[in-house]
Amino acid sequence: MSTARGEFSSRFGFLMATSGSAIGLGNIWGFPTNAASNGGAAFLFTYILMAFSLAYPALMAELIIGRHTRANAVGALRQLATGPVSRKIGTGVGLAGLITVSLILSFYAIIGGWMMAWMFEAITSMIGLDTASRWLAVDAVPRNALFAVVFLALTIYIVSAGVRNGIEKWATRLMPSLLVILILLIIYVFTLNGAMAGVRAYLVPDFSRVANTGLIVSALGQAFFSLSLGVGTMLIYGSYLSSNENLPQTGGIVVMLDTGFSFLAGLLIIPAIYVALATGVQIYDDAGALVAGPGLIVSLLPTLFDSMGLAGAVVGLVFFALMTIAALTSSISMLEVPVAYTVESLGTERRKTTILIGSAVTFISLTIVFNFGVLFDLVVTLTTEYSQPLLGFFLAIFVGWIWNRNSVLQEVQKGYAGVEHSLFWKIWPFYIRYICPLAILAMYVQ
Ligand code: PFF
Repeated sequence: MSTARGEFSSRFGFLMATSGSAIGLGNIWGFPTNAASNGGAAFLFTYILMAFSLAYPALMAELIIGRHTRANAVGALRQLATGPVSRKIGTGVGLAGLITVSLILSFYAIIGGWMMAWMFEAITSMIGLDTASRWLAVDAVPRNALFAVVFLALTIYIVSAGVRNGIEKWATRLMPSLLVILILLIIYVFTLNGAMAGVRAYLVPDFSRVANTGLIVSALGQAFFSLSLGVGTMLIYGSYLSSNENLPQTGGIVVMLDTGFSFLAGLLIIPAIYVALATGVQIYDDAGALVAGPGLIVSLLPTLFDSMGLAGAVVGLVFFALMTIAALTSSISMLEVPVAYTVESLGTERRKTTILIGSAVTFISLTIVFNFGVLFDLVVTLTTEYSQPLLGFFLAIFVGWIWNRNSVLQEVQKGYAGVEHSLFWKIWPFYIRYICPLAILAMYVQ
C-alpha cells in the first residue's frame, strides 16, 4: 500500500466531499421526477424512510471498512477476508465496483455534458448569438460528444490534484454555492404563477401509494444511487477520514444533507413544472403521463425559461450551473475509485494515472454517445439497477458475516468512545447482518 495516502484536512472537508458525491443529478433530476410520477409526498416519505433505515446502515458499512483498512475497495476487502474463498470474493466485489463506477461515470458525464451545453446556451441566448444557441440547444452527437469530453476533462483536472488539493478544495468551494443557488431558485420559482399548485401536489401526500411495492423499490433504488453506495466511492472517502471522527454521527449528517437536498430539489422542480403548466407549456405526454425523465429537464424547463425572456435566460444559466456543479462533485468521487486502486496497487504516479484512466472513461463515454440508442439505457440499467444493489448486498455480507465483529466495534470506538452502549450499536450490527442483505435481495428480485 502507498505510504503517502491522502487524508481530508477536516471534518468539514470530509462532509463537503462526501455530500458532494451523494448530492448530484440523482437528487436534483432523479428524485423530483420520481416523486412527481409517484404520488409526491408519498414518495418523499418512503424515500426518507429507506434512506435512514437501509441506505444509512449500508453507508456506515462502507465508511467503517474504508477507515479501518485505509485502502481502496479491492485492497480493503482483501484485508478483511478470512480465507482464500472470501479473499477471492472480496477481490471480485472490489473490482466489479470499480468497473461499475467507471461505467456510471461514462454515462453520468454525458448528462453532465448536456447540463453544461444548456448553461452555455443560456449565455449565448443572453448575448444574442442565435446560431450558437440553436446548436447548443439541439440534442445532437457532436454537441453531446464535445460536452462529455469537457465535463470529463474538468473531472480529471480536479481528481489529478489529489484528495486535499483537488477533491476537498473543490467540494468545499462548490457545495456551499450549490445550496445558495438552490435556495435562490426556489424563492424565485415560488413567486411565479402556478407554483403553489406544484407545492401542494408535492407535499400533500397520496397515502394510497405508500404501500405500493413499485414505489418502495424505486425509493430504495433512489436512496442507494443517491448515496453513491455499493461501488466503493464512500469506502474510499471513508479511508481518507481521520480516526478521531465520530463515524455514526458523521455518516448520519451525510444522509441528512443528501435527503435534505433531495427535498429542496423537489421544492424547486415540481413547482416549476406547474409554473410551466400555468404558462401553457405541455407537461403531460400523449399518453397523459407527466413528462418525467430526460424530457423534464432538457425540454420542459428550457421551454419554460425561453418563455420568460431575459429573466428566463438568467434563471436558466443559474439552474444549469447548479446541475453542472452537482454533477461535477459526484463525478470526481467516481473517478477517485479506479484512480486510488491503480495508484495504491501498482504504485503509479497520481496525475498520470488520473489522465490515463480518465481517458479510458472518456473513450467509453464517447462510444455511448455515438451509439446512444443502443447503449445508454442498457448501461444505466446494468449499473444502477443490477450491479449497484448486488454489490451493496456483498458489502453488507462482508461486514455482517465475514469481518470480525469486535474489530468492527474497535474501529467505530475510535472517535466515539462508549459506542457499544449506544442505540447505534444496538441496531446497526443486526441491520447489516440480516435486514440490509434481505431488503436488497427483495429489491433485486422485484
Ligand atoms: N450520488 C450521485 C447522485 O445522486 O447523482 C450519483 C453517484 C455518485 C453514484 C457516485 C455512484 C457514485 F459512486
